[in-house]
Amino acid sequence: MSALMEAPDDQISGLTPQQVVDELDKYIVGQTNAKRAVAIALRNRLRCQYVDEEMRLEIKPKNILMIGPTGVGKTEISRRLARLTTCPFVKVEATKFTEVGYVGRDVETMVRDLVDTAIDMIREDEIVRVEDEAERMVIEEILDALLPPAPATDEEADKEESAARTREKLREKLAAGELDERFIEITVEEPVMPQIEVFSQDGMDQMGIDMGDVLSGLLPPSRKKKKIRIREARNVLFEQVVDRLVNMDEVRQEGLRLAEEMGIIFIDEIDKIAAGGREELGGPGVSRQGVQRDLLPFLEGTTVRTRYGAVSTENILFIAAGAFNMSKPSDLIPELQGRLPIRVELDSLTASEFRRILTEPKDALIAQYKALLATEGLSVEFEPKAIDAIASIAYELNQTTENIGARRLTTVMEKLMEEISFDADRKRGETVLIDKAYVDARLAGIATDPDLARYIL
Ligand SMILES: Nc1ncnc2c1ncn2[C@@H]1O[C@H](COP(=O)(O)OP(=O)(O)OP(=O)(O)O)[C@@H](O)[C@H]1O
Ligand SMILES: [Mg+2]
Repeated sequence: MSALMEAPDDQISGLTPQQVVDELDKYIVGQTNAKRAVAIALRNRLRCQYVDEEMRLEIKPKNILMIGPTGVGKTEISRRLARLTTCPFVKVEATKFTEVGYVGRDVETMVRDLVDTAIDMIREDEIVRVEDEAERMVIEEILDALLPPAPATDEEADKEESAARTREKLREKLAAGELDERFIEITVEEPVMPQIEVFSQDGMDQMGIDMGDVLSGLLPPSRKKKKIRIREARNVLFEQVVDRLVNMDEVRQEGLRLAEEMGIIFIDEIDKIAAGGREELGGPGVSRQGVQRDLLPFLEGTTVRTRYGAVSTENILFIAAGAFNMSKPSDLIPELQGRLPIRVELDSLTASEFRRILTEPKDALIAQYKALLATEGLSVEFEPKAIDAIASIAYELNQTTENIGARRLTTVMEKLMEEISFDADRKRGETVLIDKAYVDARLAGIATDPDLARYIL
């Protein structure tokens, strides 16, 4: 059984909520409430695995709704969470969905994507488990191809012995990579790809079946002898051996269970399917409500057919997020609101948080510019006062024009660095110091003129 689904032994392991928050802190400044909420939800997924079955079936995940203005880290939290978690995780944008019958992705596809992810995780895990054995088998097959086994009728013992010796010599050379360029003939199995037109990918999506997949599964794979270099044969044979060693039926079953019990679906931009005020109750408002109604059964628990089998959504954790600037959470249909019981608000970012965003995260903007320009042999230093000035200009701009959150930093930084970025190749070996005067010279004029700022920054 895959380690991912192993019946947990006595003690709970994995990232603690504090550890999850610490990890998120490396990339996201502030927003402690949201981080704590997702950390708890993640931990509860694990905890459930340790609760005895009778109780476990009663414990339903508490879905989360993250609310906060644009550009304050909602999507970023989900991106980082996806990399942290060992649970199958998919992220979808609610705007991709439209009501059944309209053009757009069908809501069910998010569950199918989750199952695909879970199956891949289990398969990867299985491959790691059988890797050593598979590699041993690959070597034997290559040796067989290099030196066909002596026919069984051969009675001469010393002939056999010398063949065995040759084989061992070849094995050593193989291990040293000396034979990599030699050609051998191997049998290659290729799934038969039936030549049919798949006219509508979305139509197929809705059936949950890939016709090509189904047909090629029915037909036995074609076997062909092929002459290829040992270097390539290693990979081809490895894939084939792994397919033989990994029990796909088991992978399928465990994958389905992993998706059902540990799956997390992140629905971003959920505010975009809320009717934006009363006047919208005709027209697009209707279709949005339709999407909300389509979503409901998934949050409630329904069964979705996938190409790997049926999967229940009852224990899947849903995290939704939205800016809700044109609408409010209460504009969602009440049934949907009720199924997102945990509300967390993300705060608007302050100038001092902007400062931290510029410098602290591992992938902070300033570090990115430094790294980019270093490739040209140019080193760039930022004076602390200059960083203060950038942060406060970005903050002020958010107040006086549109509040676009931390995204403002990107436009401001790009404007600030424009000249240096353009000339960097001519400054090889130099060090540029960006001080407050430089920031003021490049930005202050634009930032204080609202008309200019609106268009440029
Ligand atoms: N708290 C934060 N700490 C660090 N970086 C942040 C923070 N908030 C936003 N950012 C940066 O700003 C950019 C936009 O953030 P994000 O995509 O999370 O916005 P959002 O809250 O999802 O907004 P929207 O409602 O418009 O989708 C990201 O590139 C992210 O790196
Ligand atoms: Mg977002």
